[in-house]
Amino acid sequence: MSSNADLVERAGRVIPGGVNSANRGLSWPMAVVEASGAYFTDADGKRYLDYHAAFGPLILGHNHPRVNRAVREATERLDIIGAGITDIEVQLAETISHYVPSAEQVLLTNSGSEATYAALRLARAVTGRGSIIKFQGAYHGWHDAVLMNVISAPDKIGHPDPLSLGMLPEVVAHTIVLPFNDVEAVAETLQQRGDEIAAVVVEVIPHNIGCILPRPEFLSALRSLTRAHGSLLIFDEVITGFRHNLGGYQRICGVTPDLSTFAKAMANGYPIAALVGRREFMARFAPGGGVFFAGTYNGHPVGVAAALATISELEDGSVHKHCFTLARQATDGLRQISRECGIPMTVACFGSVFVPYFMEGPLENYTDLLRNDTARDIWFRRRMCEHGIFMLPTALKRNHVSAAHTQADLDRTLETARRVLCSMEPIA
Ligand SMILES: Cc1ncc(COP(=O)(O)O)c(C=O)c1O
Repeated sequence: MSSNADLVERAGRVIPGGVNSANRGLSWPMAVVEASGAYFTDADGKRYLDYHAAFGPLILGHNHPRVNRAVREATERLDIIGAGITDIEVQLAETISHYVPSAEQVLLTNSGSEATYAALRLARAVTGRGSIIKFQGAYHGWHDAVLMNVISAPDKIGHPDPLSLGMLPEVVAHTIVLPFNDVEAVAETLQQRGDEIAAVVVEVIPHNIGCILPRPEFLSALRSLTRAHGSLLIFDEVITGFRHNLGGYQRICGVTPDLSTFAKAMANGYPIAALVGRREFMARFAPGGGVFFAGTYNGHPVGVAAALATISELEDGSVHKHCFTLARQATDGLRQISRECGIPMTVACFGSVFVPYFMEGPLENYTDLLRNDTARDIWFRRRMCEHGIFMLPTALKRNHVSAAHTQADLDRTLETARRVLCSMEPIA
């Protein structure tokens, strides 16, 4: 069998950067050969307890047997037809529509980026306007309208900060970036430029910079402001959807957007995403309306069967309860340890997600995170990885608890964190 070093070296020769997503980066070069439950194993046989969870899909844990069985059964009976609809696509649309408040109608794509792309195209068509508002720190996928101002250098805050070469400046110029949780900034921008703004798109909890919670009034203010100015409100629930609640964060906060996007935990890691929304807007998509929407693999039975099986596992609430309990224990435990070890930390938590920041609060927007001690953040994560507890060694990244994590896993995580944090040099 090939070793880690061998596979990583071979990957570097035939795959640009050696990985199939820029976000998989170079922070921890490894080749994974097996994944099961809360664990994965690399090509050298090192076993990791996984809190990264592939950036969030794995709410049930890796290789969940009932989800896998549902996929096998569906693919023994079906594959793609490329005409009409399948029985399970109808069933999934009905299921999502049942749970998600904004989901009068549902369309399926293969990735979150495709879903946010289609949402913005629809918003432009509906309003006849070209610009959008997004928030600093949010990630909505890889396309030109949104790939900017995620983890920005301090001097880039308040300015366009595209993440890639080759993006069309004209598209970038149509995206206005505002601070999260700042109702006044949104109100002022809509007051001045409302007739240009097709949509406000918001990661309801900006999990791409960890776990910053919306102020209680923020999302409801977005709702009333967009309505007053004729813009669409889009909730990007690619991470929050199904992970925090079957109805998404919109069910928790009680604010219903015009459109929303879902992916990740919806199918426990199988490739599928959804764009959902109000019927009057969704009906504008082709073939009924003039907004083009297509994809050879949309509604593929692999993703659809996985989504139906995952949602059915979540329905009795026990998975969420288990994950939320362990994530809360991780949060309380890390807070306690940081105090005992004299390391200034803020541990943020919502539902099954917890994030240790190496800074004191408050924590309301991206600018607050400039106080995070990146060197310590990465140092801590690297030491945890060395001890076989995989917390992606990149600053600000969140940890996810799945149904497969056990109390023993959590206890071992905290014991290891104690050893690591107490060996960190205290600040003089
Ligand atoms: C909030 C959010 N929206 C959209 C996306 C894009 O999804 P995908 O990577 O499936 O294209 C991501 C991916 O991490 C995300 O976190």
